[in-house]
Amino acid sequence: MERATIIITFIGSLLLCITSVPAKKEREVDIYSFHINSTVNSRYAITLITSRVANRLNESKEIHFQVKIPKNAFISKFRMIIEGKTYDGVVKQKEEAQRQYSQAVSRGESAGIVSSVGRTLEEFKTSVTVAALSKVTFELTYEELLRRRLGKYKLQINAQPMQPVADFKINVYINEQPGISFLEVNGELKTQELSSAVTSAIAASTREAWVNFYPTLEQQTKCEGCGKNGLNGDLFIEYDVKRPKQNGELQALNGYFVHYFAPTDIQKIPKNVVFLIDRSGSMRGKKIQQTQLAMQKILGDLAEDDYFGLITFDSYVHAWNPELLQATETNLQKAKSFVEAIQAQGGTNINQAVLNGVEMIKSHPRQGSASILILLTDGDPTSGETNTERIQANVKAAIGGKFPLYCLGFGFDVNFGFLEKMALENDGVARRIYEDSDADLQLQGFYEEVATPLLTDVQLKYPGGANLTQTSFRQYYNGSEIVVAGQITDNSLETLQTEVIAISKNTNVTYQDTISTKDITDVLPQHENFIQRLWAYLTVKQLLEKEVALKGNEKEAAQKKALDLSLKYEFVTPLTSMVVTKPQEEETQIAHKPKEGVELPKKLLKHMAYHPPWSVGMSGSSFLAQAVQPGIPGLPEGRQGRRWPLVTQSLIGERGQAGREGKPVPSAAGYMIPLPHRPMPAIIIQNRLQTETPPTTTPAVSVVRFLISAQPKQICYDTPVGHKLRLFWDNSDISINGQLSDNGFTLVAIHYKTAKLLVSPAESVYSDGENSVKFVWGQPSSHESENIAIFQRSNELDITMGSVRVVLLIHRNSGDDFLWPVVQQQGKDPNIRGILGKADLQYEELPGSKLKIKDQEVEAFQSSAIDYRFSAAPRVNCWLVPFQSALQGELSDFTVSQL
Ligand SMILES: *[C@@H]1O[C@H](CO)[C@@H](O)[C@H](O)[C@H]1NC(C)=O
Ligand SMILES: *[C@@H]1O[C@H](CO)[C@@H](O)[C@H](O)[C@H]1NC(C)=O
Ligand SMILES: *[C@@H]1O[C@H](CO)[C@@H](O)[C@H](O)[C@H]1NC(C)=O
Ligand SMILES: *[C@@H]1O[C@H](CO)[C@@H](O)[C@H](O)[C@H]1NC(C)=O
Ligand SMILES: *[C@@H]1O[C@H](CO)[C@@H](O)[C@H](O)[C@H]1NC(C)=O
Repeated sequence: MERATIIITFIGSLLLCITSVPAKKEREVDIYSFHINSTVNSRYAITLITSRVANRLNESKEIHFQVKIPKNAFISKFRMIIEGKTYDGVVKQKEEAQRQYSQAVSRGESAGIVSSVGRTLEEFKTSVTVAALSKVTFELTYEELLRRRLGKYKLQINAQPMQPVADFKINVYINEQPGISFLEVNGELKTQELSSAVTSAIAASTREAWVNFYPTLEQQTKCEGCGKNGLNGDLFIEYDVKRPKQNGELQALNGYFVHYFAPTDIQKIPKNVVFLIDRSGSMRGKKIQQTQLAMQKILGDLAEDDYFGLITFDSYVHAWNPELLQATETNLQKAKSFVEAIQAQGGTNINQAVLNGVEMIKSHPRQGSASILILLTDGDPTSGETNTERIQANVKAAIGGKFPLYCLGFGFDVNFGFLEKMALENDGVARRIYEDSDADLQLQGFYEEVATPLLTDVQLKYPGGANLTQTSFRQYYNGSEIVVAGQITDNSLETLQTEVIAISKNTNVTYQDTISTKDITDVLPQHENFIQRLWAYLTVKQLLEKEVALKGNEKEAAQKKALDLSLKYEFVTPLTSMVVTKPQEEETQIAHKPKEGVELPKKLLKHMAYHPPWSVGMSGSSFLAQAVQPGIPGLPEGRQGRRWPLVTQSLIGERGQAGREGKPVPSAAGYMIPLPHRPMPAIIIQNRLQTETPPTTTPAVSVVRFLISAQPKQICYDTPVGHKLRLFWDNSDISINGQLSDNGFTLVAIHYKTAKLLVSPAESVYSDGENSVKFVWGQPSSHESENIAIFQRSNELDITMGSVRVVLLIHRNSGDDFLWPVVQQQGKDPNIRGILGKADLQYEELPGSKLKIKDQEVEAFQSSAIDYRFSAAPRVNCWLVPFQSALQGELSDFTVSQL
């Protein structure tokens, strides 16, 4: 049998070669697969991009790999696989890498370069020469710690594969121990037709979440900014975590720990804020208008107990009012009029402006307040003191570490390095404001981040911890988060303690926590060193920031430490480079056909034309079934069905009696729940088999629970097993039917035009009259023709037909394997039918556990279901409603007599 499988698989690929060549206008360089896989453990995100490219030409060709990654991330791995050989990128010190790079380039080989593009992204580019009719796989991994801003984390995934890719997908997995409080998916890639390509779920435990994005080839050209070159845009996965403890979240793993601190139980501290606004000639026009717009809004947001000052400067420094004033209605009105009248002209006296601002704050000391200085400029210092080092020294001496200075550099004419150093030397940060239509929103966004100080002078202590990242913070703002990581060097340490002391509005506050260092966090084995990597990432980031403001030996020491860590953890940082060089001796590649091209004699081929082991009209195990009652809520988690949250009562045989007692009765099939006394209308679906199946051996009519996406909670309903169901049907010749058995589907038939794909947990067979291709689970392969693209991956079979993309997942359940079809994307056809045709459902929650669905009130139960749309099969919460309410039809509307 095994031998047969192998030979048949060969035939499959052979046919594929024959048919796919004339069927499509082949691209010379064909990106035939592009996958992005992101895993986030406690805010630490590791993303792997895999791009597979074929050179379809009969001559060698240079193939480019170009992707955008978040600026905040470090590349940690790059690999090319050509002709079965692996070429790994090596991280080297920059100078050394540069030497090797020039050598590589002079030999015509490839090296990777990273350059900055846009506001939040960097581009990684490399190329390699690939022999005629050969393939190359590129794998790039990058890592980043997601920063909390304005109350959320944002994972940015950019997709721009440069051409539409049939086998394109994004998978995101998030694991957060305290629980995920919300999850949203946004970005250009979720617009228009592509919005339905996103599937997401949060587990009922809220500790895990998944986001999948599977656009069809056709729809890849239809998002905002996308075109004939396919996808071009971002997917933003935004979320926040629950914070059950005010003292933060502390985790230890393999000798490293991380502490996330973001208390919320504190009152805001009134602030003294001075805005220093550049009104030099270069600000004229749009920039000053946008600044005025932003300032109007920012002033409007000041709280009554805040004090504020406004200073504008060109060559001269002009204060709106010599002292800080309270943010009263009248004062704000006057300030707004002042802002409106600002005119841009003259030079840029940054030195004097900042010193005046510092003086203004210092001459107004206020108990229990937080002071902030915000400088907005678009140019170099050109008047007054113009030596940047002297300005930095003056400012640092004047502020004396008392409060932070934030520098906003408007546009690209600014000396950003100067602003950055000045901000970092004074406990602040520098931010670029991009000259764009939304510059006013960028300014406001930055202000919002620092608008609500909650704590000042935060000191974090970890007795027993070593090699700590930054542990003292001038201010802590609402919506942000303080992260400290370190090593537990003492192996005998049983527990790790934390102590945080800080100043809140009018009091000193202390937070303490203790955890066992032996705590095992619930992470996948391949991520068990993530806290160590997080620590290394944060240490390098902070050293690189600190180094900016250091001099001499200290600077060198910081750089050396950052370099050593970058090399050890293979991070591509400003101090390191990654070089990918193919060994010189392997330069000459002999073009040879891939192995699967081995030809078989024609006779043999014909003889082995493949027939599935089962016939299509196979008899299902249909029998008398009853409309399903909604499950009974409140059943303890552990006592519910082995695989299904609820198994409702069968009407058949003895089990009908068993339930009379009115108590749940465990059964082999799951958990039996007695029927309520009110009579249910019976739907006779097929009774043909009744006589064939003696009642005593009839299995219980168990049910399978389905989910429909909906907000705020998914809708679920139970469907009795044993039927052939219409899963999906639209006007454009697509029809998908499935045999529902005990666990899930055991046979799914997909009809598209003249083609047919029959999928079982053992294997799948595609036939379209001319070809017959077989797919075996666990053996990646593909078939593409004009009409249909099929990708067999280890545990999913991915099928695209026109504007519909369906993925069949295989769930392995201790021998009882079953299939789960997921409509990843469907067309706009309003006539789509079938139980999977409902992409989402609108409902309204009414008091008393009732939902309003399509103008009908239905009783609903808070329940849960296993979300088989994800291979992890998480349990999710849902509103359980009757089948009829969820699908707006009777079961008989969804059954078919033949698959
Ligand atoms: C994504 O990567 C992780 C390992 O980092 C792996 O466990 C997981 O299976 C991958 N997911 C997909 C959908 O390939
Ligand atoms: C490449 O293909 C073209 C057209 O099919 C053919 O004329 C040419 O001889 C081929 N070159 C090689 C090197 O096989
Ligand atoms: C902090 O922000 C949250 C929302 O992000 C808000 O609910 C809360 O009231 C804010 N706290 C203070 C003290 O302003
Ligand atoms: C961490 O700290 C220990 C003890 O303080 C020290 O020996 C070790 O070199 C440090 N490791 C790093 C990577 O800095
Ligand atoms: C807070 O503690 C500092 C010393 O740690 C002390 O000088 C100050 O008076 C305390 N403030 C309040 C309000 O208790």
